[in-house]
Amino acid sequence: MSYRNVSKEALVGSITLGVVFVAGYFLGKKKPSRMSISKSHGGGKDNPLIQYVLNHSLREHPVLKKLRLRTMEDSWNIMMVACEQSQFMANLAKLIQAKKALEIGVYTGYNTLSVALSLPEDGVVVACDISEDYTNIGKPFWKEAGVEHKIDLRIQPALKTLDDLLSSGQAETFDFVFIDADKVNYDGYYEKSLQLLRKGGIIAIDNVLWGGRVVNPAPDDADTVAIDKLNKKLYKDTRITLSMLTVGDGLTLAVKL
Ligand SMILES: C[S@@+](CC[C@H](N)C(=O)[O-])C[C@H]1O[C@@H](n2cnc3c(N)ncnc32)[C@H](O)[C@@H]1O
Ligand SMILES: *[C@@H]1O[C@H](CO)[C@@H](O)[C@H](O)[C@H]1NC(C)=O
Repeated sequence: MSYRNVSKEALVGSITLGVVFVAGYFLGKKKPSRMSISKSHGGGKDNPLIQYVLNHSLREHPVLKKLRLRTMEDSWNIMMVACEQSQFMANLAKLIQAKKALEIGVYTGYNTLSVALSLPEDGVVVACDISEDYTNIGKPFWKEAGVEHKIDLRIQPALKTLDDLLSSGQAETFDFVFIDADKVNYDGYYEKSLQLLRKGGIIAIDNVLWGGRVVNPAPDDADTVAIDKLNKKLYKDTRITLSMLTVGDGLTLAVKL
């Protein structure tokens, strides 16, 4: 679609049907107030253009919808991926005929379920998170949707899981990776994911615009600094081709050469 007639503000931030979506926020971090988010992002539930996009393109599996509504009851629901973005990534995974996917940062598993639904019967998504409290919310829905057998959930720091996959000989075997966990480890997730990915595989990196803060990163803001640093590195990285999209809170797609 064309954003020609959209205010710049509306481009950053999106919604998950009625709930304002912003950058991911993590364990131990203060949750920003809804009010300030919706003001600073301008792309909230009242944005008719986003509403139009959802009205005319979102085809949510009934169990995905149930999981989204359940997630909205959780106080950390702002961490959930934008549903139109999740559908886009599922389409991408289908397009490249992905069989093996990696989800780095699961939360309640909305995107994990979405990608699992898009994989063939013998496909697998290795799902990495450190919280059973969050992932336990999603599990019954994975089962209800009949894709539980495709989801290999590993509860430990994601860097450790990526190392485990590498040391068990799984380099160059993954088709699709979604990086959406703690920002300070983004570079580590990217480097290890690139090793795990086959040529032509895709790494999708979430929150690359970080609510617009990347434009002028405060030096003491470790998350913004880490994201900006990785954005600059990827721009020059000859191991990949890339696109930086303004969907959600910014999504970079890196294709391994
Ligand atoms: C933004 S949420 C993920 C959202 C999810 N992709 C979705 O579809 O809604 C980030 C998640 O990363 C997890 N996380 C934070 N630090 C982590 C780490 N070191 N290793 C693995 N997961 C981590 C958090 O527990 C949280 O569930
Ligand atoms: C989107 O759909 C809702 C529910 O049917 C409707 O109330 C709203 O007017 C629609 N908005 C746009 C911009 O299409």
